[in-house]
Amino acid sequence: MSAASPLDEQNDRHAPLSSPEIVVCPNGPLLVRGDFTIAAANGGKIPRRRRTVALCRCGASGIKPYCDGTHKLIGFRTKPDTENAV
Ligand code: FES
Repeated sequence: MSAASPLDEQNDRHAPLSSPEIVVCPNGPLLVRGDFTIAAANGGKIPRRRRTVALCRCGASGIKPYCDGTHKLIGFRTKPDTENAV
């Protein structure tokens, strides 16, 4: 993932809260936006600084549960038929 500019982060912080939405990115992470919390296996809250986050699903990120872009380096591929609505 590319780094967000300070202006992007400022706009994100001031965006109104909304119902959670998850976007499945082909060959990449799950984008989660809206009002939600991320819970660790022990029940604790995983901190986040942005309302929209990218969650790793390739398993190779160095900052799990977040995506750090490593999926591109390892050539992570998903099945196209799992990315589209039915
Ligand atoms: S999906 Fe991006 S690093 Fe795993």
